[in-house]
Amino acid sequence: MTNTPLERNPSTGDRIDFSGRTAVVTGGGARGDGIGNGRATAILLARAGAEVVVVDRSEEVGRGTVEMIESEGGAARLFLGDVTSEEDCAALAAFAREGSAPPTVLINNVGIGAPGTVLDTEPDLWDLVMKVNVRSMVQVSRALIPSMQEAGGGSIVNISSISAIRPKGLTPYSASKGAVVSLTRAMAVDHAGDGIRVNVVLPGPVWTPMVQRPTMTPEIRERRKNSSALRIEGTGWDIGRAVVFLASEHARYITGQALVVDGGVTVLSPVR
Ligand SMILES: NC(=O)c1ccc[n+]([C@@H]2O[C@H](COP(=O)([O-])OP(=O)(O)OC[C@H]3O[C@@H](n4cnc5c(N)ncnc54)[C@H](O)[C@@H]3O)[C@@H](O)[C@H]2O)c1
Repeated sequence: MTNTPLERNPSTGDRIDFSGRTAVVTGGGARGDGIGNGRATAILLARAGAEVVVVDRSEEVGRGTVEMIESEGGAARLFLGDVTSEEDCAALAAFAREGSAPPTVLINNVGIGAPGTVLDTEPDLWDLVMKVNVRSMVQVSRALIPSMQEAGGGSIVNISSISAIRPKGLTPYSASKGAVVSLTRAMAVDHAGDGIRVNVVLPGPVWTPMVQRPTMTPEIRERRKNSSALRIEGTGWDIGRAVVFLASEHARYITGQALVVDGGVTVLSPVR
């Protein structure tokens, strides 16, 4: 027997706990009753006790997430806005501060897909993808980091994609998601002294409303599923749980890291 006391968080008993904290999730809505990465993350943060600010540019889908959280007894508020707008980001910061605690958790989840190569991508589409997928994260972070600095710390999780490291036919998207990984590492260095951790999750081909388009046939869905080493289909919940872990105190010694959540798609040898 050792006399070393076993470490345990006295207030949470070592459960992931966000009680008394405000968490902002961008792109927290999802179509209908679908479970996207943002919606799942928002619901899981609320279940862990956070007051969640669901940010979406669509009232219908954002409200859906707020209602789901409230139906479980959680706390959530909808901020209707476009994260590519500087004005909306400033308004979001003010809105988030009106909660019961300053915002100290930020999940930068908004992202749009875009097919193409450097040869056939129109410059305007290239700029749009970089604006939505990268600049928006810079803007929302700039708006919310001062609250975290004042509170003595915080946690930011950015959402990239395995397209950043395994590109295939989505060059503007892949480039933007690669930038999100580098942005994360740079932000982690910049803000470590403020007690702010910054990490990034790279989801694999998960089944969310984002990919449920008319071109998504049952055969393609099956191929996506079987592309993983585990041969199971990932969901928004799988992404949300990884995000919640990185955002939580359980990850207090982790910053600047990229966590791939893909059922092992990217560890497989290309020769099978
Ligand atoms: N589904 C996948 O297979 C997959 C794989 C890898 C990475 N990702 C990444 O996951 C993230 C999104 O996942 P999701 O499942 O939550 O997507 P989703 O499409 O279900 O939800 C995104 C939400 O963002 C909102 N939105 C879009 N642009 C916005 C803007 N400018 N301002 C405010 N809100 C805006 C949409 O209205 C939507 O409700 C993206 O960053 C995406 O690139 C998804």
